Amino acid sequence: MKTFRNDFLWGGATAANQFEGAWDADGKGPSTSDMCTNGSPEHPKRITRQWEEGAFYPSREASDFYHHYEEDIALMAEMGYKTFRFSIAWTRIFPTGMENTPNEAGLAFYDRVLDACRKHGIEPLVTISHYEMPYALVEKCNGWEGRECIGYFMNYCRTIFERYQGKVTYWLTFNEINAGAMPMGNVMSLGTVKGYTGTILDFPDNPRVRFQALHHQFVASAKAVKLAHDKYPQFQMGNMICFITKYPLTCKPGDILKAQQEMQMMNWFCSDVQVRGEYPYYAGRYFEENGIEIRMEEGDTELLKEGCVDFYTFSYYMSNCSSDEPGAEIGHGNLTTGLKNPYLKASAWDWQIDPQGLRYTLNEIYSRYQIPMMVVENGLGARDAVEEDGSINDTYRIDYLRQHIEEMKEAVKDGVDLMGYTPWGCIDLVSASTGEMGKRYGMIYVDKQDDGTGTLERKRKKSFEWYKRVIASNGEELD
Ligand code: BG6
Repeated sequence: MKTFRNDFLWGGATAANQFEGAWDADGKGPSTSDMCTNGSPEHPKRITRQWEEGAFYPSREASDFYHHYEEDIALMAEMGYKTFRFSIAWTRIFPTGMENTPNEAGLAFYDRVLDACRKHGIEPLVTISHYEMPYALVEKCNGWEGRECIGYFMNYCRTIFERYQGKVTYWLTFNEINAGAMPMGNVMSLGTVKGYTGTILDFPDNPRVRFQALHHQFVASAKAVKLAHDKYPQFQMGNMICFITKYPLTCKPGDILKAQQEMQMMNWFCSDVQVRGEYPYYAGRYFEENGIEIRMEEGDTELLKEGCVDFYTFSYYMSNCSSDEPGAEIGHGNLTTGLKNPYLKASAWDWQIDPQGLRYTLNEIYSRYQIPMMVVENGLGARDAVEEDGSINDTYRIDYLRQHIEEMKEAVKDGVDLMGYTPWGCIDLVSASTGEMGKRYGMIYVDKQDDGTGTLERKRKKSFEWYKRVIASNGEELD
């Protein structure tokens, strides 16, 4: 019976805007996430045009990876990491996104990070754009609504590809690109928020603008992949989808159809474009019914075909249900809500926990595309308590991860080609949806609190030693 391949990429994942801090160090410019305040499930975080006196902007210092990268990567190496997924902050390289010459100090920082990875034998997995963009591009062209963003993004890609060509093989173009298929994408990934100050939930969504911006991201992603394939044949280019698996709430045909429709537009739409290279048939009716018309330029269709990704990656935290009738209880999530599943328990943030759903999802995706896959985010956001002796006994996190790894193993036995697994927030970082620090995912604790206090000291949690054994045994020892 098959099990994880020998070169399975065990590791962990982070993102610059939630982890690095040093928001204005060494020439860095402000990004969209630098303009976001903290929040909580009850008080959604806000994006502001100007920095507000008295407001707290958690990404500014975050976990300060910028000044702790050596220690952090050494800790990852101690756990036996084979890979480290992180993102490059566009605004470290091009502070407004529009400069002609890159910021050398920003480039040098990622050289140091990549060299530290290499020193420890860790394969970098680099996300080019993870939930941030230069805020100056929001002001200039309403973020990705402006087609000129593609050109600015390509300057950035050309620069980092050329600079890091000898150090990075695996790249992901846009984190959770399908955020753009949901209203939350305006603030999180598209930057279509020119002039807006307010909560991330109250933004007045315009699907026509949003899908146009998403189209520009598709073209940018395809161009980046094509550039890589043409000029850097050693690169492996991946997409990244936030997969929120949908089940019909009941076996009523209306519920089944509703689940299928939601699966199509939330989960399949973007990867159908990025893996198959064309807009899927079902999008036509959705666009028509929602007043969406995509303006394409000559050559876009060909470009999408020429820029298909080499491997498929996704985040998996939860599943939820769909019904064609109102009234069922709502469960929560990072990008959108869904209906509660009576068979599942949920996290303290009301994200439904469904390990078997991961096996199901891996099979669904693989049967559709049959290309190598990677789970690049998974994990349990929880409040951790530091005991008097300094220990952090996160057995709940171990249980969550163990159950998901067991199901990944089943999917591998089913025949799915799985390359690796990088649980989210391997070192505690700022939550993307709420801006909290207290929603922790890490196997390494960071002494940093919701109000910004803390020493930034790193501590190994119980899950640290556990994951170390998991990696050393290539997923065989899970207890
Ligand atoms: C994914 C994002 O949606 O989920 C991450 O790619 C994010 O950036 C992660 O942090 C967990 O979500 P949250 O809201 O708990 O931080």
